[in-house]
Amino acid sequence: MAKIAVYVSGSVAAFKAATLVRELQRQGHTVRVGLTAAGARFVPPATFYALTHQPVLVDLWDQQQGPVPHIELADWAELSLVVPASADLIAKLATGLADDAVSTTLLATASPIMVAPAMNSHMWAKPATQRNLAQLKADGYRILLPTTGPLAEGYSGTGRLMEPADIAVAVADFLAQNQALAGRRVLVTAGGTREPLDPVRYLGNRSSGKMGLAITEAALAAGAEVTLVAGTVSVPLPSHPRLTIERVTTTAELQAAVDQAAPEADLVIMAAAVADFRPKTVAPQKIKKQAGQAGLTIELVKNPDILAALGAKKRPGQVVVGFAAETTALLANAEKKLAAKGADYIVANDVSQAGSGFGTATNRVTLLQPHREPQAWPLLTKEEVGRRLIATLAARLQAGEQQ
Ligand code: PMT
Repeated sequence: MAKIAVYVSGSVAAFKAATLVRELQRQGHTVRVGLTAAGARFVPPATFYALTHQPVLVDLWDQQQGPVPHIELADWAELSLVVPASADLIAKLATGLADDAVSTTLLATASPIMVAPAMNSHMWAKPATQRNLAQLKADGYRILLPTTGPLAEGYSGTGRLMEPADIAVAVADFLAQNQALAGRRVLVTAGGTREPLDPVRYLGNRSSGKMGLAITEAALAAGAEVTLVAGTVSVPLPSHPRLTIERVTTTAELQAAVDQAAPEADLVIMAAAVADFRPKTVAPQKIKKQAGQAGLTIELVKNPDILAALGAKKRPGQVVVGFAAETTALLANAEKKLAAKGADYIVANDVSQAGSGFGTATNRVTLLQPHREPQAWPLLTKEEVGRRLIATLAARLQAGEQQ
């Protein structure tokens, strides 16, 4: 059963949040409540205090609730629900504003957030509201869409809060899905490695880390304990109570971190772009060009193949996944990697295609497995690729357990 924070903002539908709190408690969840100032005008904190027997967060500066009450609630919650979500609160969440207890706590929480809008139908239809909702969806919020019917204003339209019983069902579905990797350990590599040439130069690649981080987020959302081995990345790294991050630069460091974490992992996903070669020697001082020098030859030596080593020594039940970054003959090259590396899956991406591969927000991948037809996925956001991949792998782990 989950720890759920319910945030109530200014809408006449705020009274329905009390019914939802009761329903969630009936399902066995522990519920705490935060109210915006406008939400507290519709339903006073005393109502939720009586229902939950827990202090209700209204004031960012209320010292009676501890030194940093919003962070305490943000860290406590395993799931956050915004019910009802007013247009104003949705706009704040979409822009990252944090100017009261509720918006600050929602910005601070690492828990998944479900948002159930309720407002006048004209406010709902406004481009600004729809833009803000699209932003929330892109940021990974789950939106529980309002229904159409009679509004408090006396006319009909879209903007009615989803019924509390339906919200409770959506929560139950989400939590069931969210438990798919509960108790599992997942190791993810992300970003690129850099191989030094001298104190100021290196051989590297264009990996941003977005793909590996999307997988990390999806594994966390599915309840896993995650170790992220991150090379060079150009996006911020997440923080989460179930996430351990190891920063590495070179392939040798990545290998050491992977070797450390892999034996405990149920699932290893190698999304990092790892250098196949490194300079044979690293010059102790900056390499200077000499007068009359026409060129410079750098001798490279092969790096160990970390994925192949994992594939060769994987323990029963462990699932090992590699990526293949290809610019030609995607399937043929990825098939070869699947066999050569002993991986259970290869996620092949054609990195020469627009919108796919290094640095992009989206990816078009094909999933390969031994003795199965390749599965080509459409162009998706990297977040969606991460979620689909984690859902596929969680099902594989569960199926493996039942054999
Ligand atoms: O980080 P982004 O900007 O979001 O870009 C995502 C990505 C394109 C980097 C990612 O989707 C991807 O394809 N990652 C794998 C890149 C890569 O190194 O591919 P490869 O085909 O060279 O290697 C195949 C597999 O072997 C990979 O899982 C790689 O991690 C692994 N490998 C490679 C070399 C090596 N010495 N050891 C390895 O373990």
